[in-house]
Amino acid sequence: MKICCIGAGYVGGPTMAMIAKQCPEIPVHVVDMNQERIDAWNSDRLPIYEPGLDEIVREARGRNLTFSTQVDQAIAEADMIFISVNTPTKTFGMGAGRAANLEFIEKCARQIARNAKGHKIVVEKSTLPVRTAEAVKRILSSECSGATFDVLSNPEFLAEGTAIEDLLNPDRVLIGGESEAAINALSDVYANWIGRERILTTNLWSSELSKLTANAFLAQRVSSINAISALCEATGADVDEVARAIGTDSRIGPKFLKSSVGFGGSCFQKDILNLVYLCEHFGLDQVAAYWEQVVTMNDHQKTRFSERIVKTMFNTVSNKKLAIWGFAFKKDTNDTRESAAIYICRDLLRERAQLTIYDPKVPEATIRRDLLAACTDMHGHVNADDQALIENNVTVVNDCYEASRDAHAIAVLTEWDEFKEVDFQKIYASMHRPSFLFDGRNLLDHPKLLECGFEIHAIGKSPEQRSNN
Ligand code: NAD
Ligand code: UDX
Repeated sequence: MKICCIGAGYVGGPTMAMIAKQCPEIPVHVVDMNQERIDAWNSDRLPIYEPGLDEIVREARGRNLTFSTQVDQAIAEADMIFISVNTPTKTFGMGAGRAANLEFIEKCARQIARNAKGHKIVVEKSTLPVRTAEAVKRILSSECSGATFDVLSNPEFLAEGTAIEDLLNPDRVLIGGESEAAINALSDVYANWIGRERILTTNLWSSELSKLTANAFLAQRVSSINAISALCEATGADVDEVARAIGTDSRIGPKFLKSSVGFGGSCFQKDILNLVYLCEHFGLDQVAAYWEQVVTMNDHQKTRFSERIVKTMFNTVSNKKLAIWGFAFKKDTNDTRESAAIYICRDLLRERAQLTIYDPKVPEATIRRDLLAACTDMHGHVNADDQALIENNVTVVNDCYEASRDAHAIAVLTEWDEFKEVDFQKIYASMHRPSFLFDGRNLLDHPKLLECGFEIHAIGKSPEQRSNN
């Protein structure tokens, strides 16, 4: 058995590294058209930050794990081909802003069809609209090369920041398909480290749809608790207390009830919009509207947070220095795709704030690129005002202290553990008064910060300040 994976991204890289680690007898070849990414996978500085990943790659690389741009060759040699390419939201034409852009999937299928000989098992690892496997099958059989194919759906449920843990010990592995032999071949790979009772098999369409549904349900929980956070701020209830109170009901459960500045990441919004598009396609307008509200609520949460900052700071942040702690969409990743921080920073810049941004893992170039993209319209234009604001009003620094010196406020946008460990006395001493702290993750020890003298505005909580302020 030889495996190849097309797409060396956040899913392809860690997933294949785990298979290579757990199955030392299976050669695993990960290919990508992006030479820079492949070079990084072959270097000491991997292209993605993920706790525990370096060790696994170091163990398997050069033994049975290879990274290259030799896509054709890898396809020709493999028995099982994973497709793990990106499926972003379409930005043009029919379904723009909703449907998944499937051009990368189609290109892969065509490339497989051109280079395949004998029998291949093609595994959809990317998240896809339900019934994509049908199109993949048709494309694969269109070349008449004599090669034969089985197509399986095997969606990935890992979350960034905990990818290695999730891959090592998943709640379940889902395999959808028609051919029992192909399903067994893939199950055998996973069975090297995952109990058979956790390998679920379904038909192709259920598997494809389960992935979109799982993400929609998870995102819905975040939007639900964020909706309640607004009511908490208006009424004096505390969202963390409400989350604890409802989360101890075993029917509800405690996970995914952490109120925040809004969910980010490359998956939730994209997959819900994809679900919405599918529902509309099938004429299920009420169902589509129901799910779309999860995204609407999330956008509202981001806007609500930046507006709260401006309103609290006497209705103006113009020329005030604001320290931004965290830019990644969650802790323990360098990924910023759809991070709430991007939109909050953009809105604060448009209020003429001076932002000093610190994130432990996100480089300055990424921050500037993301802000520019958030100011770019459908036709690729950025207006001159926005461009000037990003150039002149954004400084990226190397730690929380530098970010906060002479600042009027701190906004915590990512829940990095190191933010809990800083010397808040020292930070407070270096700031303007009143020293506002906007905790967008309810991460910090608020009583301790109140002691220092901060005025605290946290998600889903009433404002707090020391009584003698
Ligand atoms: P990514 O953008 O990090 O990686 C995709 C890679 O595919 C890129 O490096 C790109 O260069 C490469 N690629 C695209 N077309 C190619 C082609 N024709 N030939 C060779 N290489 C090609 O994306 P990702 O985050 O790894 O996501 C991949 C898929 O997995 C998506 O469908 C996503 O929805 C799904 N998914 C992502 C996550 C996550 O946490 N990121 C989790 C579960 C599922
Ligand atoms: C998600 C799914 O969890 C994973 O199963 C799927 O394979 C890919 O999409 P990911 O986006 O990597 O994973 O991270 P996740 O932990 O789900 O967090 C997504 C966003 O929701 C982050 O911005 C996070 O900060 C936010 N979130 C999550 C909350 O605001 N509150 C919570 O309680 C949980």
